[in-house]
Amino acid sequence: MKVTVVGAGAVGASCAEYIAIKNFASEVVLVDIKEGFAEGKAMDLMQTASLNGFDTKIVGSTNDYSKTAGSDVAVITSGIPRKPGMTREELIGINAGIVKSVTSSILEHSPNAIIIVVSNPMDTMTYLVHKSTDIPKNRIIGMGGALDSARFQYRLAEALECPSSDVDGMVIAVHSDKGMLPLTRLATRNGVPVSEYLSEERLNQVAEDTKVGGATLTGLLGTSAWYAPGAAVSELVRAIAQDSKKIFPCSTYLEGEYGLNDICLGVPVVLGKNGIEKVVEISLNDAEKAKLNESAEGAKKTNGLLAAETA
Ligand code: 2OP
Repeated sequence: MKVTVVGAGAVGASCAEYIAIKNFASEVVLVDIKEGFAEGKAMDLMQTASLNGFDTKIVGSTNDYSKTAGSDVAVITSGIPRKPGMTREELIGINAGIVKSVTSSILEHSPNAIIIVVSNPMDTMTYLVHKSTDIPKNRIIGMGGALDSARFQYRLAEALECPSSDVDGMVIAVHSDKGMLPLTRLATRNGVPVSEYLSEERLNQVAEDTKVGGATLTGLLGTSAWYAPGAAVSELVRAIAQDSKKIFPCSTYLEGEYGLNDICLGVPVVLGKNGIEKVVEISLNDAEKAKLNESAEGAKKTNGLLAAETA
């Protein structure tokens, strides 16, 4: 499998590193506009190959998309990250134009690529890719829910004082501080509902800490996180590479699923060689449905800003 990662910043380079270390791709092409930056990151990563035991070939390219030709998957991380105190939505003014341009460059050389969108505001950037291309919706995947679910599981494990590997939890809806929906009712520890172990108050705190997981790190780091985002992307790419049929919450274009239309937001999907193989409609209670609809309203409002930004 050949993978392109656009943006050799912290998130893009982490994507490339985790993809390489997991050793399921033959080649990763790292692209950036800054002269020599992607080439340097690629060379540094390749010098870990004998230490980390991977065979994946990582190459860098300064804005030469011919090197990306024939990519099976292309990950878009380019654009500016958040600064402390910013919302993801505030990035739309700069990132919309970048994502539109990058998508066009990718498809010019890899017309059959599956596109994974990371740049924020991610759900709206995913929607932008839909609206600015004619590629089928199964080949456009927004990465947010996989990251938020990992943060949810981290917070659950912290509350339960157990290994993250013992817990399972999913976050759906919009990848935003207020809009995401950690499904606390469905979270489990070794198959047992976590409500057996945690009070409603503690579970609500876990959900709130999850929702601001990105902002918490931006406050600590002075910029957006990169390790967990990079790892989350690598798991989506691996599911595609291995045609695994694993379920992840991903942002995808909805046409009636969950009662929603003409919007992209995080719902459970089956990932395989075709990208999104299908959307999985799980049963939500009335409170969850109300929160999902409220989240969707927020996404539609942000989508409404696109016209001005991409005219
Ligand atoms: C995050 O939540 C970058 O949006 C990403 O860390």
